[in-house]
This record gives sequence, C-alpha cells and structure tokens, in this order.
Amino acid sequence: ISLSAYNTFGINKKARFLCEAESREDVLYAFNQSRILNKPLFVLGGGSNILLLEDLDAVVLKINIQGIDSIREDGEQVILKVGAGVVWHDLVRYSIEMGLSGLENLSLIPGTVGAAPMQNIGAYGVEIKSVFDHLEAMEIPSGKLRVFTGKDCRFGYRESIFKNKLKGKYIITHVAFRLNKKHQPNINYGDIRLTLKEMGNAYPSPVNISEAVVKIRQQKLPDPKELGNAGSFFKNPTIPLFDFNQLKNQYPEIPGYPVEDNRVKIPAAWLIDTAGWKGKRCGAIGVHEKQPLVLVNYGGGTGTDILELSGKIQADILGKFGIQLEREVNTISSENLIQL
Ligand code: EPU
Repeated sequence: ISLSAYNTFGINKKARFLCEAESREDVLYAFNQSRILNKPLFVLGGGSNILLLEDLDAVVLKINIQGIDSIREDGEQVILKVGAGVVWHDLVRYSIEMGLSGLENLSLIPGTVGAAPMQNIGAYGVEIKSVFDHLEAMEIPSGKLRVFTGKDCRFGYRESIFKNKLKGKYIITHVAFRLNKKHQPNINYGDIRLTLKEMGNAYPSPVNISEAVVKIRQQKLPDPKELGNAGSFFKNPTIPLFDFNQLKNQYPEIPGYPVEDNRVKIPAAWLIDTAGWKGKRCGAIGVHEKQPLVLVNYGGGTGTDILELSGKIQADILGKFGIQLEREVNTISSENLIQL
C-alpha cells in the first residue's frame, strides 16, 4: 500500500499492511494483527512531521479516533476532550465557533490532535503546553489505559516524553484541552501584531487572531496539498549569549531572542537564508523560496534525497556559523518500528 497520501512530503514508500483505528478496540485489534502476522507496528497520525526513508515491512496503524466533547466546566474554563484522529485545524475552528479562546494562535497547523502533544506544537507565541489539561494513552502492547498530566508529558520546545523516554511505548488516543470562555489575546509575536494592525483590529477577537495567523501562514508556508513539505525541517537552535555576541560582531543584523540559562534562540530560517540556500532547487526537491526552514518535494523526490540536502545545509551552517542545526522532522526507517 502506498503511503504517499499518508505523509505530507508526498513520499512514495509502501506499507506492508495498513490499519485505520477509529476506537481503542481497533487499536487492540491492530496489536493483535501485528502479533499474528509477526510484523512490527508503526503508528501514524497526520504524517505531517515525518520523512519516510524506506518501505515499512510493518503494520502501519493510522489513528483515526474522532470526537470533540466538552467534559467539564471549571469557572471561566472549559475542558474539551478530543479524539487523537481529529484534524488539528478542525478542532481550532470548532473551539473558536464555540466562543472558546486558547487555540487561535495555533490555526492551520497541519496534522492531527494526537500528534500535537508528541512535539508540543507551537506557533506565534503559543505552545500546546499552555492549553493542555491531560491526555489518555494506551500502553503498548498491554493496551492498559494511562492518563498523563501536563507535568507527566515533560513538554519542552518541540519536545515531550513521547519523543524521548516513552518513544514507541504509548499510543495517544485522546487529548483534553483547557480553554477560556473569556478571551485572553496573545499577540506578542511581531508578525501577528503587524498583520492585525493591517487588518484594522485594535481589539482582536479569537476569530481575528485566527484569520491573521491563517493569512501569515498562507503567505509564508507552502500548502502540503500543493507542494510536499513537513513544515519547519529544523528546530531553531539556542546558543550561549557569549557566542551570540561573537556572531553579532561578524553579522550585526543577526536576530536572536533571549531564553533561559543565558542562552539566545536564533531563527534557523535566518541562518539558512544568510548562507544562501533560500529557494535553492536540487532536482525534485529544494528549499522553499519564502521560508527557507521548510524543505519541499516538487514531486518524485525521495526521503533520502531530502535527508541528504538537509545534511548539506547542516554542514554549511556549522561551517559558517559554528551552529549545529537539529532536525525537527522525524526520519522513519525500519529502526523506528515497534516490536510487539
Ligand atoms: N527569516 C529569515 N528569512 C526568511 C524567513 C525568516 O531571515 O526567509 C527569519 C526572520 O528573522 C524572522 C525569523 O526568521 O523574523 C522567524 O521566522 P518565522 O516567524 O517564519 O518563524 P520560524 O522561526 O521560522 C517558527 C516555528 C514554526 C512556527 C513559526 C511561527 C520552529 C522550528 N518553527 O518558525 O513552526 O509556525 O515559528 O511561530 O520553531 C513547524 O514547527 O513546523 C512550524 C512551521
């Protein structure tokens, strides 16, 4: 079965078996299939943060659990429990229609709800961490249910326990979000402030903010339906303040934002842009012309091509700035399969 429709890079690798789970029972069924067929398991959400390097001789389990339910009210807050298979932006739209605030800055992020906590998705000054209540996950292979609080998830910048210590150990089935009935706008991110000003919104509602975010994203980021990509390919690196000041002597215009521990976060997009990679095309793949942090597949590119290009960019950035870029996208090969 071709996985090209199941990953936003549009890479044409195959799965031996594909199982779509709409419930916990379906997940247990997939565990069983994996045992009976004696093939490992691979868990897939929206496929918007993976780079497929090989065919997967595995049971690929696509999580398709639906449902958005208001499970509790807590003063000015509402807890929404959402199936892991719900499309992220559908949840954002639904919450805004319900008059709830908290997810508007995270509009138009590709992928599913279940994948969102895996890497603590974030954009325009908000991370999922700040609206997270808890999640439910099934242990592999027992199927035992476990509830994770925000603390349990160990959220960090594009990080959680599910990418680290518990990698391949749990399947997220539901995520609960704590949203506000009263709007508390978060418009600190420069691009948002500017766009809202252009749109003439001095007191922006969640709808206004969502519209501004959609506008910014549509201007900068390629739509995976039109051009294969997985959003930011690298993380934004942080370096010690001392190193940043050294770089500033050489590149006075280098942008940087102070973060904890006397470190500075630098936009990888600036580094890649300044190194001259923006808009570069190498056959079927390339570096996006508007947002150089995004690698794109014009059609027919392979995961290995993209990995190679990313390696060249990493080596160049290391040589020019002494900074090691870390991949944000997960590379997928037989090493990532879960043996039951
Ligand atoms: N920049 C350039 N040249 C460019 C584009 C950007 O120099 O062509 C520099 C500018 O200095 C700009 C800065 O990069 O101010 C930041 O650019 P942008 O606002 O587009 O954000 P980003 O740092 O490139 C991060 C996230 C995005 C998220 C945006 C908005 C990561 C790895 N990426 O990108 O997340 O949408 O901020 O908050 O943190 C994703 O994770 O897939 C993703 C798209």
